[in-house]
Amino acid sequence: MTKIIFKQKNGEIKSVDAENGLSLMVAAVENDIANIKAICNGCCSCGTCHVVIEPNFINLTSKKYSGEQQVLTKLGNSEIDSRLACQVIFDENLAGMVVLVK
Ligand code: FES
Repeated sequence: MTKIIFKQKNGEIKSVDAENGLSLMVAAVENDIANIKAICNGCCSCGTCHVVIEPNFINLTSKKYSGEQQVLTKLGNSEIDSRLACQVIFDENLAGMVVLVK
């Protein structure tokens, strides 16, 4: 298990334990993180798991593939450190990461 912190736009913070090898989206859904709807259930098509990763952790996450970037671009509010939570797989290197929920 790896501890991560979800931060909402209103400043609300929730710390959760994420299981290594599973996605950030799964950790969010299992811990009832608000505004992570994950409508496509991790198929990288809906964009409802949009998050922004803290800059000092972004390079520790897996690389974005083109399909993920296409979905983020269509959202119209993505940032340089935006990710789809369903495409970020957890490991111990991400312990303590702060994730802003879009
Ligand atoms: S859950 Fe739909 S894009 Fe991530």
